Amino acid sequence: MDNDLVERLRTEMRYEFERTAPPDGFPAFHDIPVGRHISDEFWDLEQAHLWPKVWVLAGRSEDIPGVGDYFLFDDLRQPIIVVRGKDAVVRAFYNTCQHRGAPVVREQVGSARAFRCQYHSWTYDISSGALINVPDERDFVGLDKAERCLQTLRCEVWDNWIFVNQDHEAPSLADWLGPIAPQLAELQGTSLRTIARRSEVVACNWKITAEAFLEVYHFRHIHSRNGDTLLDNRGATMGLLPNGSSRMITPFSKSACAAFGMDDWDDWQHVVTPGFADIATVNDMIRCTSSAYSLFPNLITPLAAYGFPFITFWPIDKRTTRITWTHYAPNSAPPNSAPPNSADHDCKTVPSADSESAAERRAGDVLTPAWQRRMDTFDQIMAEDFANLAPMQRSLESPAMRGIPINYQERRIWHFHEQLDRMIGIERVPPELRVAQLLDRYVER
Ligand code: FES
Ligand SMILES: [Fe+2]
Repeated sequence: MDNDLVERLRTEMRYEFERTAPPDGFPAFHDIPVGRHISDEFWDLEQAHLWPKVWVLAGRSEDIPGVGDYFLFDDLRQPIIVVRGKDAVVRAFYNTCQHRGAPVVREQVGSARAFRCQYHSWTYDISSGALINVPDERDFVGLDKAERCLQTLRCEVWDNWIFVNQDHEAPSLADWLGPIAPQLAELQGTSLRTIARRSEVVACNWKITAEAFLEVYHFRHIHSRNGDTLLDNRGATMGLLPNGSSRMITPFSKSACAAFGMDDWDDWQHVVTPGFADIATVNDMIRCTSSAYSLFPNLITPLAAYGFPFITFWPIDKRTTRITWTHYAPNSAPPNSAPPNSADHDCKTVPSADSESAAERRAGDVLTPAWQRRMDTFDQIMAEDFANLAPMQRSLESPAMRGIPINYQERRIWHFHEQLDRMIGIERVPPELRVAQLLDRYVER
């Protein structure tokens, strides 16, 4: 995030504080049709045209440091192996034996010199997926081993974050990320390590969970402490980025500024939170605001200089979503003496017995006392969100709900839904379920 962008965001926040209405000419949104969250028809469209075509986070490079190291990735509801090949390149294959379809890998995480299906021992190369051995090959008439490779999917890495995409025609991950990668380069993703993983199953449609992290309109209403709130949503500025992604910078409230020793919301200081290792390159605005990015469709990251989570949303069925959050921190031994002076302003976590994800199975938490306190606070905010979200599905399904009005401050949600329709194909979405394409001229390019 260069200085020009930071100064532009400061100007935008000042404008947001001072405005008395949305900007002149800003479009009036129609209601978002409730059917997008509750109908089988829309669920089926997403299954057919969104998830098979989009980049999603699968894990971290350091999860598989050695040749042959692999983990299974199930969150796309497809059986996927992510493996480091003999050339050290990370690749993804469907975990589907080309004989009679057994999984070639059974353990969630491991290391293999070859993938040998346990059913009849067909054996595949870990780098190319080539079928290299078939027991009793003489008994297969006309078997062409070259046609029976493990099937691949796209797999690309951004600053050690591994993404997969089932669509071989998809744009590159770098193109999909667009300005997000350069704007977040200061996080030094390659030098971070995973320190905690959590997940929770919430009884609502995945978009209800995603939408909760695309606005701060709700923040002081459900996340206040003793009547005090950390953020002042009136100054929040939203950046609509290409491909449905977005950015949101929200200034601190007066009381939070005082706690941070700031004279005003934009008196940004190089705050280094005691008790934590610091990502020294993170700019002062991020240190003194709530700054968050979303990567369409299902990843949100609320940033901080001492470390931050990637929060992801995975549909299980129309009414059930797994929310997973993984915290990353600088890859140096963090001091664990002083208590954190952190005013937590993003979201939190509660592990539950029924929600162990593949990510959790891959690594346990490695928390200092400071990080444990940080996680506790984060978890409390997440629990406040979950308590709010779970009952919404039933409520949305009731005949009382006629449509979802969205305000200017919630425009990232509209931007998200526009991209969703573009991914599905606007003509495929029944007119009564569409959202109008209104925000293109506001997208930063
Ligand atoms: S199903 Fe894999 S070897 Fe038969
Ligand atoms: Fe929230």
